[in-house]
Amino acid sequence: MSNVHLRARIFTLLGIAAIVPLTSPATADSGDTFVGSREICIVATDGACPASADAELVPDYWCALVSVDGEATLDATAESCCYPVTVECKEVENCGCYGRPFVLEGRPVQAPAAERSDWARGPVPALAGLSANQCARLAQFWTDNGLAEHSSVAGFARFALDLCAHGAPPDLVHRALVAAVEETAHARLCFALATAYADAPVGPGAIEMNGAAPVARTLVELAVHTAREGAIGETLSAYIAAEMLARATDPAVRHVLEQIVREEGRHAELAWATLKWAIAAGGEPVRAAVAAELATAGLTVPDDLDADAVLEGHGLVSAARLRRCVDEGVRTLVAPAAAALTAVGPARSAEVEARV
Ligand SMILES: [Fe+2]
Ligand SMILES: [Fe+2]
Repeated sequence: MSNVHLRARIFTLLGIAAIVPLTSPATADSGDTFVGSREICIVATDGACPASADAELVPDYWCALVSVDGEATLDATAESCCYPVTVECKEVENCGCYGRPFVLEGRPVQAPAAERSDWARGPVPALAGLSANQCARLAQFWTDNGLAEHSSVAGFARFALDLCAHGAPPDLVHRALVAAVEETAHARLCFALATAYADAPVGPGAIEMNGAAPVARTLVELAVHTAREGAIGETLSAYIAAEMLARATDPAVRHVLEQIVREEGRHAELAWATLKWAIAAGGEPVRAAVAAELATAGLTVPDDLDADAVLEGHGLVSAARLRRCVDEGVRTLVAPAAAALTAVGPARSAEVEARV
């Protein structure tokens, strides 16, 4: 699936007839946590806003409420009340690799690499002409990607649980479970490449979950997760994988990337379809949370990646090229899709009112 095709499919899903004027991409703050001013919006009661002391103001799950800094402003449609607040938020990291990460307590987690052969399944690249140093760099690169794909298996397992916990339609649940299977295949393909470049077995160890993998408590949390990890993460990952494929020349690497590009594009579509459902089901609180999350679209790229044509032929793309690719993905797809998706907040269904 090319980037143009992916864009067309997602725009069609969101009912965009033409590309919406672009907005500037914002990048995430750095550091472990940051404190800042935001608004928390809740649904108005009979066209009025409760006093801040009586309002239940719950920030999204990345953040903790520090203080409520004033009374609410009722929006023009008298549907929502927005309170100025100060929040302390966790910095949300992105791995810089493609795929949806498994997130615990606001942070993506992966297994460590392990010496094992059972995860490696896929075509083997041609090593002729590669120096020992190039093989070592490619082994590390494809190990990192394999670990990110392996994390995505857990990420989609968690996503499927979230969907079940919030009454999602069967099509979304089915697609989430299919995606988990596809991520398993992606991981195996990457570990097959890593094993060949390393000339030693490489696979994933165990993901440390500390006995807790919590399901999203509210539909807002589910939607924020999906916006961050899917609509931003998977969409930009699909762009990155397409860039890697465009430069790859080794037949085995191309085979791996063709499958990943095709399926990551579907995962990105699934994320946008999920957001569309969540906003229709949850109304203004979900819409507002999704809009805020999508406004942070970006992807952290490792600083130390450089690559020549030989390494690019085996899939390793330089940090500079990755950054351009991420910027293009934000500008041409995520930003206009976010604008279309969050432009209007549909009425919330009474059925899911209690779950938001
Ligand atoms: Fe994916
Ligand atoms: Fe993947």
